[in-house]
Amino acid sequence: MSRTTSFRAIAGIALAGALALGATACSGGSAGSTDAGGSDGELTTIGFVAVGPEGGWRTANEQNIQDSFSKENGFDLKYAPATNGDQNSQITAFTSFIDEGVDAILLSATEATGWESVLERAQEAEIPVVLLDRGIEPNDTGLYTSHIAPDNVGISASAAEWANGQFPDGGNYVVLEGPPGLSVVNDRNKGWDESIASNMTKLESQSANWSTEEAKSVFETILKANNNDVQLVFAQNDEMGLGAALAVEEAGLKPGTDVKIITIDGTKAALEALAAGRLSFVAEYNPLFGDTAIDVVNDALAGDEVESDIVVPSVTFDSPEAATEALPDRKF
Ligand code: AHR
Repeated sequence: MSRTTSFRAIAGIALAGALALGATACSGGSAGSTDAGGSDGELTTIGFVAVGPEGGWRTANEQNIQDSFSKENGFDLKYAPATNGDQNSQITAFTSFIDEGVDAILLSATEATGWESVLERAQEAEIPVVLLDRGIEPNDTGLYTSHIAPDNVGISASAAEWANGQFPDGGNYVVLEGPPGLSVVNDRNKGWDESIASNMTKLESQSANWSTEEAKSVFETILKANNNDVQLVFAQNDEMGLGAALAVEEAGLKPGTDVKIITIDGTKAALEALAAGRLSFVAEYNPLFGDTAIDVVNDALAGDEVESDIVVPSVTFDSPEAATEALPDRKF
């Protein structure tokens, strides 16, 4: 029984200095000198261009960000979830935050591409922008202050290494992907494809849009089309893995036994399913990084150096025992 593999890496240092000077000028407050919010008691205004409802992980992450950037901590956070995941609604919110002259912007993008012009506008307005979880493509670090997220490539690579150990003689597998066009989906595919053994056969890789229902119907169709000859599912999030488990049961098979199922996120629901043997391997994608985001915003507004890529530590669970042990204190 083993529990943990932690991912931690720190990359380049972003030039926050230039940004901070401007920000202090426009907000009148000198955020960053205290360990939270403006030192003169004035609240630091934050525009949070968010994704909105999308599943257990997203709810945990966005609640953690809102709880962290509280008034008690010296912040006035304006929460702007996307309308049905639509990028245009995010760009509209982002632009209005610039026009309002907020002190900093947090962005969880629903699409990886198409952010250059508004990010340039934020720079002209000297408003630091921190990317949360989702990256942008092309990944021009000169366009934003910092990107904070767990290591999608590393997490998927560890899932593939576990699968290689489970199937030394090879096997057939299916990938259930998140929505196309997202950096996390591309990075999870990259980590998996670079580490999965050559004797493992990828039968299908299809999007199920982070959804349990969609994953159930997609995998039911794939099982039928392959006479149930599938030994493994790599689901890019917990909800889709739980959908695959339902499809396996629908086919009269036993999830976790006849078909092994890997998921990413590490929500309570997934750990409960792992503890019950219905999932096989759960890689956490830690959503609780609000405090790190506060430090980055404060440092940027104070003109201190900020790392452009901050990796949030995450762990993996590879047995029912490991899940059972973690469940009592699980916060999401
Ligand atoms: O961007 C992270 C992904 O978005 C999570 O893995 C998924 O559950 C969420 O919806």
